[in-house]
Amino acid sequence: MWQAFKSAFSCRERREARTGLYIMTIGVIDECRKWGIGTLLLREANNLVIKHPKFGKTCKFVYLHVATYNESGIRFYDRNRFTKVKRLEAWYEIFGKPYDALLYYKRIEGEESSGEVCS
Ligand SMILES: CC(C)(COP(=O)(O)OP(=O)(O)OC[C@H]1O[C@@H](n2cnc3c(N)ncnc32)[C@H](O)[C@@H]1OP(=O)(O)O)[C@@H](O)C(=O)NCCC(=O)NCCS
Repeated sequence: MWQAFKSAFSCRERREARTGLYIMTIGVIDECRKWGIGTLLLREANNLVIKHPKFGKTCKFVYLHVATYNESGIRFYDRNRFTKVKRLEAWYEIFGKPYDALLYYKRIEGEESSGEVCS
């Protein structure tokens, strides 16, 4: 069961400096939403970073983009205490149509952190 949740969660480290973990996408199937699974996945990502033998010391923040039309996604990140950095115009192109995105970040919890946030 946990493997299935994990496969729904996709991320990559920030390649240049290895200071940030980028969440490419996070999804919970309709029937299982609002059970706290999404929040659990975010917490687990944070914990995986802290425990990582290689990136645990250098990775200081988690960051992601969310489409401006995705109201529930934005509420989800706000509720999980992510900070909005800025709005990026036409960040996504879906079926040839441009959509703006918001860049969000959150510092890794449980670590002393002074890393710069990417922009
Ligand atoms: C965004 C997403 C991942 C959230 O997943 P989730 O498992 O529903 O997240 P949570 O359950 O932790 O929190 C969602 C809401 O449920 C509420 N909730 C959590 N546990 C609850 C419970 N036991 N009873 C009632 N409400 C609860 C939370 O307070 C939160 O409220 P909000 O909608 O006002 O923010 C999910 O909605 C999703 O897959 N959306 C489509 C994909 C997407 O937009 N991804 C994000 C952009 S990449």
